[in-house]
Amino acid sequence: MILTVEIFIIALLLLSIALSAYTFHKVRRVHLMQYDLQNQYQRFPDTLNLTYQQLQAFTALDRRLNLTYALPPLRGWAASPDFLLLLAEHVHRQQPEVIVECSSGASTIVLAQSAKQNGKGHVYSLEHDVHYAEKTRQALIKHGLQGWSTVIDAPLQDYSFAGQSYRWYKLDDEIQSKQIDMLIIDGPPANLNCCARYPAGPLLLPLLNKNAMVFLDDADRPDEQEIINIWMSKFPNLHAEKHNCEKGAVSLA
Ligand SMILES: C[S@@+](CC[C@H](N)C(=O)[O-])C[C@H]1O[C@@H](n2cnc3c(N)ncnc32)[C@H](O)[C@@H]1O
Repeated sequence: MILTVEIFIIALLLLSIALSAYTFHKVRRVHLMQYDLQNQYQRFPDTLNLTYQQLQAFTALDRRLNLTYALPPLRGWAASPDFLLLLAEHVHRQQPEVIVECSSGASTIVLAQSAKQNGKGHVYSLEHDVHYAEKTRQALIKHGLQGWSTVIDAPLQDYSFAGQSYRWYKLDDEIQSKQIDMLIIDGPPANLNCCARYPAGPLLLPLLNKNAMVFLDDADRPDEQEIINIWMSKFPNLHAEKHNCEKGAVSLA
């Protein structure tokens, strides 16, 4: 009888310990969530501000391009509206003939439509991923822009510069024979290797025309800042200008 009572008390004790641990775990989670919410609430005005800036840029871009069909989703993987507006305005102002871009997508449509509106220029878009290359080609056909742009399958290959290895686009003879008026660098993906977009410097900057302009997206990232510094030291005639874009953008001329 005494043994049964003891077992009952021990079981009760264990149960209350388990319950206390469970309650402690739940209370701790609520406590952490409250900090998280407070944090989000404090950042909310910044998020709202950023969204408003992109909406304003998108409205200007949309009006300028006057497309029949919608652009693919912007931001995230694609360039942001402010960067695309910068590109579209440059094409309208400078009327470049040869436009080369590293990585295809929404930017290809923006550039090709801008060239079409000018009645001059052609976009050559290097794309390493056959799936996205085809997706961009289909989007260009839908927008009636196939005559103003060419998506080039450019698989990544090994390069080496100053003892550093890179995976970067294979360049065909056609691109290498071009004199580039406008160069947009938004690829390849940054996670391939350190300073993934660096090879555009030694491989494409020597192909620039006299009055050419280069646009580098994601320029707020440490890798991109390092890339710009090395390019500037190797091409001392280049002048860099920072643009107030969501992901950071720098133009070089
Ligand atoms: C930074 S994205 C830029 C694409 C393009 N310049 C634009 O503005 O849309 C670089 C690469 O991501 C890949 N990509 C494009 N769209 C994607 C998506 N929705 N999800 C994952 N990867 C994507 C493509 O291979 C592309 O070359």
